[in-house]
Amino acid sequence: MNKIEIKKRIEKLREEINRYRYLYHVLDKSEISDAALDSLKNELFKLEMEYPEFITPDSPTQRIGGEPLDKFKKVEHSSVMHSLFDAFSEEDMRDWEERVIKNLSSQPPLLIRRGGAGGEVGYFCELKLDGLAMNLKYEKGAFQQGSTRGDGRVGEDVTNNLKTIESIPLALRLPTESELKKIGLAAAVIKKVLASIENGVIEYRGEAIMTKKVFEELNKKYKKEGRPLLANTRNGAAGSIRQLDPKLSAERKLDFYVYALATDLGMETHEQEIQLAHLLGFKTLKDVKFCRDLDEVFSFYKHCEAKREKLPFEIDGVVVKVNNLALWPVLGVVGKGPRYMMAYKFAAVQATTILNDVVWQVGRTGTLTPTAMLEPVHVAGVTISRATLHNMDEIKRLGVKIGDTVIIERAGDVIPKIIKNLPKLRTGKEKEIHVPKKCPMCDGEIERVKGEVAYRCENKNCYAVNLRRLMHWASKSAMDIEGLGPKIIEQLMKEGLVRDASDFYNLTVGDLEPLERFAEKSAENLVKAIAERKVVVLSRFLYALGIRHVGEESALLLAAQITNSQIAHKFTNKSVLTISEVSKYYQSLSLEDLEKLEDVGPIVAQSIYDWFRDKHNIELLEKLEKAGVVIESQKLKVKSQNFTGKTFVLTGALESLTRDEAKAKIRELGGDVSSSVSQNTDYVVAGADPGSKYDKAVKLGVKVVDEKAFLSIIRG
Ligand code: IVH
Repeated sequence: MNKIEIKKRIEKLREEINRYRYLYHVLDKSEISDAALDSLKNELFKLEMEYPEFITPDSPTQRIGGEPLDKFKKVEHSSVMHSLFDAFSEEDMRDWEERVIKNLSSQPPLLIRRGGAGGEVGYFCELKLDGLAMNLKYEKGAFQQGSTRGDGRVGEDVTNNLKTIESIPLALRLPTESELKKIGLAAAVIKKVLASIENGVIEYRGEAIMTKKVFEELNKKYKKEGRPLLANTRNGAAGSIRQLDPKLSAERKLDFYVYALATDLGMETHEQEIQLAHLLGFKTLKDVKFCRDLDEVFSFYKHCEAKREKLPFEIDGVVVKVNNLALWPVLGVVGKGPRYMMAYKFAAVQATTILNDVVWQVGRTGTLTPTAMLEPVHVAGVTISRATLHNMDEIKRLGVKIGDTVIIERAGDVIPKIIKNLPKLRTGKEKEIHVPKKCPMCDGEIERVKGEVAYRCENKNCYAVNLRRLMHWASKSAMDIEGLGPKIIEQLMKEGLVRDASDFYNLTVGDLEPLERFAEKSAENLVKAIAERKVVVLSRFLYALGIRHVGEESALLLAAQITNSQIAHKFTNKSVLTISEVSKYYQSLSLEDLEKLEDVGPIVAQSIYDWFRDKHNIELLEKLEKAGVVIESQKLKVKSQNFTGKTFVLTGALESLTRDEAKAKIRELGGDVSSSVSQNTDYVVAGADPGSKYDKAVKLGVKVVDEKAFLSIIRG
């Protein structure tokens, strides 16, 4: 994008984010998920970081919360209700810790340690509830006012609605002195706490939430009554709090957990604030942990993530707080949130990205399935670059065009899907998606299946040919990709992930992990195995291309030819050849040139000649090059001429070397390896349990040698 386009993109993102914020915060409606909205905000934030000249004061990145609603009385908060900064990885957390330590570098170490039992800083970790932040004000121990966060400074008075929540105490419980002592409060602090309950003001903050159970029950009920359903628990809670009639609010049975004390009572640690809340009669989170260092934080985070599904309410991460309250004013607040806390979020399952292209996959029955090729994006911890689009009806339903910004979702173990299109972000350059006129695999005719939305390639062999082609590509004698067997290839084709060999190289762990037969480890292994074979010797590459009549032997001859060519000087031990150099070379050979090659007759020559001129094949070569496949040099010049003109056939298992090694040795010494025994065979090398080739050799009177004899021959 050039600068003008970037500015436009920034403006469009802003408009769209603002529209969603208004819908969500003011009208209690949500058109897209938080994760998708975050993704848009993230893009905007990154663009603004790179081009600060385009930041405007009204950008969504520049403010804390939503506007208060007009229908409730406005309440000015005693102190700003901030938001939190987000971290998405261990690296983000380490960066945060580094900033904390840097900011504390002028403090005496003793002060830093006081927060934790011997730890450097000491963190108190809690679940991050997915509800709405509320401020609860108690005067002389009685619940006096409850308010929403609003824009952080001014919120809405929702006291009556909050009073319907049973977990919010209407009067604070008066703890005993010994209870307060037990949580480590000093005598002066105990005095202050008791005085504030009896005669002063105490403000606590926490989250109003709807449990998963209530959410399900309500939606069941609403469905029966034909009322609109709640989108999620957060929306359910928001709608409840914003009811003008508290009776309607009560129907929704919300819950409330306290997570912060907003009044200075002289506590030393945040942990004490939470313990005090419990003593005062608030519901506090059970899943909390004091962590001495980040490693302990990380294991708590993992523990919570694993527990997430089973919890009665929705959480979207863990909040990590510097435990020592004396450090809070030193660290201070910057922008939307304090430096002494971090929301360590769980990986989002939705994100926004660009639909770069649509490719059409031909299935076993010839049905064409569109696959979305996406700008790679991080979702739920993995990179996604493809998603299924199912069929033309789905494309129409989504109203999606190539170039559109789309929301993709990866939920648990399902294939990523495009769930929404954001047409407001269009530039005008987007392209309609059309069903191809000819089969992209075989150029066969395409027909619409009668009575169905599907289109089909009429060539019955199309799928099978393609499958065989891909199996050949991955096979041991060709690219030799470990773990890429026929079953996996078929699965990848079926899922629309692989259409031609170049697609293997673009697969990501995120593409594979949701598939049956794959777990994180096996997905990683396959991606690694494929990447390891990106650099390949020329003969294997030529063989893998599956040119008709070009077997392993002719591929070797064809490869050797290049060493005599004008690009031979590039083909030294160190350098690699690009695929375009290779294909240009073979395209430069005339039919006569090809026929002159050893063992190449007119039929083989014609086949090679045609292959390198076919439009689909040229396209495949280009894609392979783009995918990063390169040709490495190969010792093709024969070392000695000992075996020149001699043909070997291998049968049975060899002990001291693999079959491939044996073949390589024979070729190094100038010999040929054939797969079948004939009058022209010079030696049959018989290992353990030789097969029918052995019998045939005996019958034809061909010389048979065992492994030991073979080894002594090759050792000269
Ligand atoms: S502490 C300075 N602790 O997350 C803000 N917040 O994304 C103090 N939240 O506005 C917040 N669980 O509504 C804190 N254990 C927890 C939380 C929590 C959920 C919410 C809170 C906040 C939002 C920020």
